[in-house]
Amino acid sequence: MEQNVLLSLSHISKRFKTELALKDISMTLSKGEILGFLGPSGSGKTTTIKIITGQLRQTTGEAKLLGTDSANIDASIYEKIGVVSDNSGIYEKMTVWQNLYLFARIWKVPRGRVEQVISQVGLAEHIKKPAGKLSKGQTQRLVLARAVLHKPRVLFLDEPTSGLDPSTAVAIHRMLLDLKEEGMAIFLTTHNMEEAAKLCDKVALLHEGEIVEFGPPQEICLKYNQIKKYHVLLNSDKDLVLEQNSENIGRIARWMENDQIACIHSCEPTLETVFLEVTGKDLNI
Ligand SMILES: Nc1ncnc2c1ncn2[C@@H]1O[C@H](COP(=O)(O)OP(=O)(O)OP(=O)(O)O)[C@@H](O)[C@H]1O
Ligand SMILES: [Mg+2]
Repeated sequence: MEQNVLLSLSHISKRFKTELALKDISMTLSKGEILGFLGPSGSGKTTTIKIITGQLRQTTGEAKLLGTDSANIDASIYEKIGVVSDNSGIYEKMTVWQNLYLFARIWKVPRGRVEQVISQVGLAEHIKKPAGKLSKGQTQRLVLARAVLHKPRVLFLDEPTSGLDPSTAVAIHRMLLDLKEEGMAIFLTTHNMEEAAKLCDKVALLHEGEIVEFGPPQEICLKYNQIKKYHVLLNSDKDLVLEQNSENIGRIARWMENDQIACIHSCEPTLETVFLEVTGKDLNI
């Protein structure tokens, strides 16, 4: 079990002058796992990735990536990780294929892998197009293709689907799940709770630099499902959300007996409602 842990953070904090951007962050990521770091803008997601990948030094605590202290990371680790933070590093005048082949040569990746990755991200039709002429979603897929070209053991994605249309986002989700199946560990940040609930084995809810909840999305949601609620739509078009108590159980039973219910379902909390409850804040702001 231990040997499968590829990344661990232990009591990490980060101070920027007067601002404490991260407070006592601890967590682990293992082989074949997708971990979601969820939090609103400014909560410390990118700062965390920068500390782990050795781009920024923490104020206190320890970060270990593939057995190396993040503070001592050298170039050799970049052969084993992939980082997608923005669209930089793509050469606009070079085609999709040329962009990837250039990196394939640097990483000593077999040529066949380039074609494989291009088709995995759905860019086969655009293989000869200069990268500067790709749409935003296509560019994002090219960046992702480049990050996974050398089959990294750990992949960092800072908001991989922000601003993408739903079908491109779904294609990227599918690809991430395939990579996970191959054993890659994926650390992703997102504002998108639905994305996190669908993809992630574990999520950390980040609020003002602190992890306020950590665990499998479903477990977190169930933990907040103490007051059960039901959504009832009556034939009369009356739309109600009722808490589970003896009075409401009686009302629902009577409506059922009289065949007055058009539709009824339970309202489990989502990560979004949990986040709102824990922090009093909406994630999308
Ligand atoms: N180099 C820096 N110097 C000073 N403050 C910084 C620096 N980098 C980040 N911060 C501050 O630390 C906090 C966390 O920033 P960070 O970029 O990690 O947030 P984030 O969760 O990635 O937000 P977003 O969703 O907007 O990308 C912010 O308040 C930010 O202003
Ligand atoms: Mg960020």
